[in-house]
Amino acid sequence: MSEPVLPPPYTASKADAILSEPSQNAPKVFFGRIIHSKSLKEIEIFPKAALGIDSTGTIEFLDPTVASAAEACAKHKHFALATTITLRPLQFLFPGLIDTHMHAPQYPNMALGMEGDLKEWCENWTDPIEASYADTSKARRVYREMVQKELENGSTTVAYNSSIHPDATNVLADTCLQFGQRAIIGKLCILVGSTHDNWEKNAEQSVHDECKVVEHIRRIDPAGSLVLPCIQPRAGSYVPPDLMSGLGALYRANSPIRVQAHMCETPLEVANMHELHAGFASYADMYDHYGLFGPRTILAHCIHLSERDLEVMAARKVGVAHNANSNTCLTDGWCRVRQLLDKGIKVGLGTDCSAGYSISILNAMRQASNVSRHLTIHTGDPRWKLSFEELVYLATMGGAEVCSLEDTVGNFAVGKAFDALVVDVGLEDNINTNGWESDDMALLKKWVFLGDDRSIRKVFVGGRLVAGKDMKESRLFSCA
Ligand code: GUN
Ligand code: FE
Repeated sequence: MSEPVLPPPYTASKADAILSEPSQNAPKVFFGRIIHSKSLKEIEIFPKAALGIDSTGTIEFLDPTVASAAEACAKHKHFALATTITLRPLQFLFPGLIDTHMHAPQYPNMALGMEGDLKEWCENWTDPIEASYADTSKARRVYREMVQKELENGSTTVAYNSSIHPDATNVLADTCLQFGQRAIIGKLCILVGSTHDNWEKNAEQSVHDECKVVEHIRRIDPAGSLVLPCIQPRAGSYVPPDLMSGLGALYRANSPIRVQAHMCETPLEVANMHELHAGFASYADMYDHYGLFGPRTILAHCIHLSERDLEVMAARKVGVAHNANSNTCLTDGWCRVRQLLDKGIKVGLGTDCSAGYSISILNAMRQASNVSRHLTIHTGDPRWKLSFEELVYLATMGGAEVCSLEDTVGNFAVGKAFDALVVDVGLEDNINTNGWESDDMALLKKWVFLGDDRSIRKVFVGGRLVAGKDMKESRLFSCA
């Protein structure tokens, strides 16, 4: 009888810090397994490579030819005195995750309100909680916790929706800057279609308050190095022509600026938009008419699209935030991601909390995978299925493109900001790495489908260590 084949002797990584924390802006060299997305079709895995980050947090080299961090330091100019971080056998470096659509004020409602459809959910859950942020102290409490949770879950960039309140929205921007999260933020604009007093006085007030937020964000982060403003009409069914026109003027006056809005989420929402904005051939034509459609426009959902919508979206190079979890929870429908990609439309993933119940982009990847598979079940056509390579792309580079940040983040290309995660799949958590995994791709798949915040040991934004379990534990165990 032949001997049973035993897995190689992997030992669980210890959860203690793997580097003596350097000064935040010292040059750094990572050495170990490095994984990122090259294209929709290709994940690049370096089993052993060095990544050099300069003192501004910018990636200066990715070198697979060296055998150690010390060799990389000796070889690369300016890195002789760099802090070195050598990853453990079951760790890898991965680009920061990008959440292209999240509602900050809805955070306390996560996992609640799944009984109704979009309309019922808005009336019973969303309008009341959003209206409550007239109390700015609530924003201080909730946003502080939420931003840290987002970072711990690996979301280094988030496109946030806020509430109608400029002061609470400014608190959100301040909080992202304070905790070092890259963010796109705007004040929500609503005049009609809402309940529980969750609307603004008139178009003039709404535009004025959005302007206040844009000015605040440009004052606290003049270079736009972390926090970027956006204009935020909630959806076509909430913003009548006079306000949409005012927001178009604000866009032109502040260009380049981002736009974040909802589009084509349910058939009823599309019908309500047409009722409020008579005469347009499509939802996309309406936004385009007001000048709000361009390469910096982020559109949540885009489920019930017409051929004309697709045509205008592709021509204007807008991006789509695909919120698979939320779309399932509210029974909105299936976003046809394959069709968007085939038309060359940018797609990223969003959590859309609290319509979605998880702030994790790992969860968003799983849900996007499942929705694409349901489309295959429904139609019998296997082409709807998203491949693993595509899921990884959507969560990182695709998100960067949708946020118009593809030259800044999304992968480890030289010249980009170092937004990254140290992932560890060898810990006591739900990831069952036990040595049978055939290759490094298997480790990545285990993390994506089984991992959570416990496996995210370090989170870097722009080269700065901002979160991660190692940071939390070293705080817990250090003497004050
Ligand atoms: N449509 C308009 N507002 C919202 C929102 O807050 N969440 C979702 N899922 N859809 C919306
Ligand atoms: Fe949303």
